[in-house]
Amino acid sequence: MGMEEILPPATASFQKEEAPIAAPQVGSFPSAATGAETLDEIRADLGECRRCPLAEKRQKIVFGAGNPHARLVFVGEAPGREEDLQGFPFVGEAGQLLDRILFAMGLSREEVYICNVGKCRPPGNRDPLPEEVAACEPFLKRQLAAIRPLLLVALGRCSAQTLLRDRTPIGRLRGHWREYEGIPLMPTYHPAYLLRNPNGKREVWEDMKKVMARLREEIR
Ligand code: URA
Repeated sequence: MGMEEILPPATASFQKEEAPIAAPQVGSFPSAATGAETLDEIRADLGECRRCPLAEKRQKIVFGAGNPHARLVFVGEAPGREEDLQGFPFVGEAGQLLDRILFAMGLSREEVYICNVGKCRPPGNRDPLPEEVAACEPFLKRQLAAIRPLLLVALGRCSAQTLLRDRTPIGRLRGHWREYEGIPLMPTYHPAYLLRNPNGKREVWEDMKKVMARLREEIR
């Protein structure tokens, strides 16, 4: 398994050259986090949330998963069917592709943290509505303040536009460094988009190479 499985063959060689970069160090050090609260405290405060109508139909809240001291955090949109059933982010088909992207970056789920803008499944996998995002985003903000990662990756339009407060299409946002609450953020395509548009994998790999290079710089 490797980049050749998520990329067109022409770009597979990038992975062979570059996969080892900085990868072992991403989540393996004690955190630089000095956030006032822990993820467990934030989860406890979220409780059996009823702050928006999505609570009615959800099976499980998907809070986030991974290394609480991660230097790299991925933020998706909202849980889908599988995530709603299992209570963990990116465990469906898009999640399998995200795993392959992580693997090609030399990373594992244990080293990074993965969460979403919304913590409950919107019906039919529609985008979360503004009022649903408004109810949920304070918790994401607190999670990121607790983890204090070096870098963020926004997966897809909803995540990038919400975090950046910028309605620019994802095709123009992706690949360019921005900032969320002082943390450098790289927008890229959502893995679910890549399942429908495999040609976008090449651009995602370009974006992830920038992320790995910046991590290397920041860790040095
Ligand atoms: N899509 C997302 O944006 N998040 C998930 O957790 C699963 C699918």
